[in-house]
Amino acid sequence: MNPTIRPMTMEDLDAIVALEKRIFTEPWSKNSFAAELVGKKYSFPLVMELDEKIVAYAVVWHFFDELHIANIAVHPDYRRMGLGKKFMEYILEKFGDAEFAFLEVRPSNTAAVKLYQSFGFKVLSTRKHYYHDGEDALVMVKDLRK
Ligand SMILES: CC(C)(COP(=O)(O)OP(=O)(O)OC[C@H]1O[C@@H](n2cnc3c(N)ncnc32)[C@H](O)[C@@H]1OP(=O)(O)O)[C@@H](O)C(=O)NCCC(=O)NCCS
Repeated sequence: MNPTIRPMTMEDLDAIVALEKRIFTEPWSKNSFAAELVGKKYSFPLVMELDEKIVAYAVVWHFFDELHIANIAVHPDYRRMGLGKKFMEYILEKFGDAEFAFLEVRPSNTAAVKLYQSFGFKVLSTRKHYYHDGEDALVMVKDLRK
């Protein structure tokens, strides 16, 4: 399996928003994704393709010495095949000149928490009732200087 990763484009948005709605209880809107594609110097929206089909996507913010993984998801039919791991490896390599990588995750999201832990992310703090349904968010950080 040899997925490719490229910048997200406006033409990708219908497919991505359909996936986003399927995957998340608080999905980003099409406008939110579109806003990432225009004029934000620090935003890097990416898609991963396999045989020209979008199988994963991510939005990465890179400002100053910080990296924020604002969104990352793998198509439900393509999970547990190592694609999430490949995507994280790519992101951390491409933006490896940053000093710290941050992200937020639901403590109940075992798959994501385990993925991040496997890359050395540690829980920095908890944001109480961060999500609309009242669940807290874990703020996780990885020191990229090590
Ligand atoms: C989290 C997510 C991106 C993982 O993608 P994936 O392609 O299935 O992950 P991989 O196959 O690359 O797995 C890499 C590692 O992550 C962990 N992991 C992934 N899915 C897991 C699961 N269901 N249960 C436990 N650990 C899991 C494991 O440590 C795994 O390594 P292993 O296979 O050697 O055990 C995917 O489940 C997803 O898109 N979830 C919905 C969206 C989401 O929650 N995004 C994160 C928001 S913060």
